[in-house]
Formats: sequence, structure tokens, C-alpha cells
Amino acid sequence: DANVTILGIESSCDDTAAAIIRDGVILSNVVAGQKVHEEYGGVVPELASRAHQQNIIPVVDRAIARAGIEKSDISAVAFTRGPGLLGSLLVGTSFAKGFSLAAGIPLIEVNHLQGHVLALFIKEKDGAYNPPKFPFLCLLVSGGNSQIILVRDYLDMEVIGQTIDDAAGEAFDKCAKVMGLPYPGGPHVDRLAKQGDPHRFNFAKPRISGLDYSFSGLKTSFLYFLRDNLKENENFIEENQADLCASLQFTIIDILLNKLKKAAKQTGVKEITVAGGVSANSGLRTALQENANKHGWNLIIPKFEYTMDNAAMIAITGYYKYLNGEFAGQDAVPFARTQL
Ligand code: KG4
Repeated sequence: DANVTILGIESSCDDTAAAIIRDGVILSNVVAGQKVHEEYGGVVPELASRAHQQNIIPVVDRAIARAGIEKSDISAVAFTRGPGLLGSLLVGTSFAKGFSLAAGIPLIEVNHLQGHVLALFIKEKDGAYNPPKFPFLCLLVSGGNSQIILVRDYLDMEVIGQTIDDAAGEAFDKCAKVMGLPYPGGPHVDRLAKQGDPHRFNFAKPRISGLDYSFSGLKTSFLYFLRDNLKENENFIEENQADLCASLQFTIIDILLNKLKKAAKQTGVKEITVAGGVSANSGLRTALQENANKHGWNLIIPKFEYTMDNAAMIAITGYYKYLNGEFAGQDAVPFARTQL
């Protein structure tokens, strides 16, 4: 199967993205973010759908142009079916259907979470290729998900632990919001934490059994802590911003690593990877590396641009599904909530 060329479409949240992958090699990767949400401190679904509608055609045109291919070279179109915001998903789904119909090529539906994991298998034209070996564990941490996934093969994965409430990214973003930081707050907390003392403050850690996560208790504990201290000192946040960020980040990472260590022990798997927007966090990367050294893990961290929401990960998943003959019908519908 040479020259299998996949157009990937991603529109699950607030990034409109298109990418071209040929035989597993990335040819182009275009992402248009949406600035409209910044002033609201979070993604506004209605505005996201509308922005996707505006962006989708220019983004796809750019992806095809940058790849240096013709539309007629495309073998199949892969789109994110979910999970995500329904109105946003509908834009990408409808576009992909129209494209597949017009071009007379197959349609492939992709689970966004599977895409995050398979981003580890994107090949660069001239770069080194260093994918994980099966089976491996993937810590998937993003704005909408926190999961530990046992990956047995490209299209064979199982969620062995997941959050029962908020995602790790949500914990970063919501706590950042109460400190008055811009949205999304994760990167700001990361930056400020570098100057702070991670042991200055203690916040509640969840006590739940197994490999599942919980972050809503931490969020509440953080909120109450600030509220109590603001009563005594109205400048409490400004005066302690770096320490607050460092302590918050330390707690989130500690929670994430605890269950990951447990999962590695339980499964005996030492091939460890990370995916999703929160994997950009510098403290998390350091902690993962320290644990890798200590426990003999082979740690693989994907390229930064593939950890955030993007269409390259949808295209690479589409590629493996294409090879496996897994196609979708024109009656495919998106799902806001869907499991791996
Ligand atoms: O995977 P992603 O791009 O999309 C969603 O699932 O929405 O992840 C976005 C999330 C946001 O919550 C953002 O705050 C978080 O990833 N994030 C970070 C960092 N960079 C992005 N969190 C902590 N530290 C960072 N450096």
C-alpha cells in the first residue's frame, strides 16, 4: 500500500485543523485557533461552531497546498467523530462527508482520544522515528480527559484508569481562572510555577482506589483556601502567585504520577508515553523523566505540536484504519461523549 494519502479533519473543540499524511509521513499540519473565547474565560460552544464553519475550508485548502499535493491525490478523508462539542464536531463531520462524496473517496471516523495516542506514530520526512513498542501505557491528559490507556496495538487499546469528574487540564484551567489568569490557564500556571515553592501550600489529594483519577476535590480545596486567605489579606493571590502555582502544579503532577506508577506496576509495562495538551507541562515532563530513571521506564514524549489538538493525529489514525479497511458510511454521526 504505497502512496496512501489521508486528509485528516479535527474540529472537536476550539481548534479547526487539517493535515495530510502520506504512508505515515506528515506532509502538512494546519491549525487555526479561535481567539473569540479568550474574553469569556472558556470555550463558548456556539461561537466555536461558527468559527469552525468560517475556518474549515481555508484550513483544508492550506493543508493541501502546503503538502504540495492535488486534491485528487487524496485516498481517504478521516474526521474526528468525538468526544467533543457536538456543534463543533458536526462541522468537521459534515465537511468530511461532503469531501468524500465529491471526491469519491472513503470516509474514516476517528476517536479523538485514539488520535492523541497514535500521534506517537507520526513520521517526519527526514526526522528520526522513535515510536513506542507495544504494549505501552499512555497517560492521556488534556482539557477534557485524564486517562491511563493500555495500548496493545495501533487499533487495540483499553482505558484502565480515568477521571471520575474533572480532567487534569480542567483543574489547571479552573484554578488559574480563580487566580485571575487568562484562559487557558495551564500554560500560565506552568510559567509562574517555575519561580515558586511547590511545597509552600498543601491541597487536598483524592483518595480513590484503583487507577481512576479525581480532580474536583482539589479544585474545591483550592477555591476555599483562596477564599479563606483573601478574607485576611485581599492581596493574597498577587503576593503568593508563584507559590500558589507551584504548589497547585506539584499536587496535580503528584496525583497523575501516583496512578501511572501504580498502572506500570500492575501491568508490568515499562514502555511509557504521554499525550494531550497537559503533556506540554514542564513540571510533568521533569517528573516523568525522574520516574523513568528511577523505575527503568522507556519514556516517549511526542513532539509538542502533536500533543495539542491537531489533525495530524486524526490523519495518522485514519491511515492505520485505512490499512485495516475500517471505513465509515455516509450515515456516520458525531458523538459528544464516546469511549475509546
Ligand atoms: O489536548 P488539548 O489541546 O485540548 C483539549 O482537550 O481541550 O489540551 C488543552 C489543555 C488545556 O486545559 C490547557 O490548559 C492545558 O492543556 N495545557 C497545559 C499546558 N499547556 C496546555 N497545562 C499545564 N501546563 C501546560 N504547559
